[in-house]
Amino acid sequence: MLKSKDLLGLQYLSAQEICEILDGAVATKQFLKGDKKSADDLKGRSLITLFYENSTRTRTSFELAAKYLGATEVNVSVATSSVQKGETLIDTGETLDALKIDFIAIRHPMAGAPKLLAEHVKASVINGGDGMHEHPTQALLDMFTIKEHYGKIKGLKVAILGDIKHSRVAMSNLFGLNKLGAEVYMYAPATMIPKELERLGAHIAKSREEAVEGADAVMGLRIQLERMNGGLFPSLGEYARYYGVNGDVMKYAKPDAIVLHPGPVNRGVELTPALIDGESSLILEQVTNGLAVRMSILKLLAEYREKNL
Ligand code: CP
Repeated sequence: MLKSKDLLGLQYLSAQEICEILDGAVATKQFLKGDKKSADDLKGRSLITLFYENSTRTRTSFELAAKYLGATEVNVSVATSSVQKGETLIDTGETLDALKIDFIAIRHPMAGAPKLLAEHVKASVINGGDGMHEHPTQALLDMFTIKEHYGKIKGLKVAILGDIKHSRVAMSNLFGLNKLGAEVYMYAPATMIPKELERLGAHIAKSREEAVEGADAVMGLRIQLERMNGGLFPSLGEYARYYGVNGDVMKYAKPDAIVLHPGPVNRGVELTPALIDGESSLILEQVTNGLAVRMSILKLLAEYREKNL
């Protein structure tokens, strides 16, 4: 069972809790393969999605996960909500709490916003991405995808290339993959990779070939133009040529290595279209797995709430 009412980051979860979520997703993935996606595990429960940043995959899959499990789901559109009148995050959270909801899935540009919210509401808060801090449900679906493919995570080499500095996905994957015994190699232009990640267990490679050498999984990360103040690399074309992953770079990986990307992809920048659409790509499978993993998380948090609150 999970040990907290909230899911805020993989730095706070034990290896056992991570495994419980991944194991639960095996069953929810089976459920998704069925003809009719209707269950009553969360009947009488309610989920609010509260996204202060854009999203396609995370928000939609939280909403579908709740609906498929029988919960009531409501999206609070931040652009048309009282947030625009200056309502604070805590006031918004307490207002939603007064509506007797069970779960809030939140995405926020500020690192730590989900934790602050969780400390002020009775609802279970699930971090859907906070600033450059963590994106735990993305890393859990990435890990599920790797485990589903290889049957294990321990002992695998995972190479992560792209905008590490601005990436909450990189941080959560580093915490989670290390906890389950994988080796994480990272590579990016020097302006996009904080050296202190070595202290958190990452191997910082000196070239993309070194990062990918013998890798079981190669993950591209989006170049986050919206988080840059400019000047981190000369142009997207030069980034693709010198730092992107292409077929030649993939020759250094294991012959059956898989290609991952959290999406959305800048086609031809982080990964070539041939890799994105190629046989080794599991990028769309990651999207399906995101739904399975988020269903598993909602079920486990509901179990925690029934036993502890
Ligand atoms: N990977 C991810 O978080 O995608 P969205 O921004 O579409 O949710």
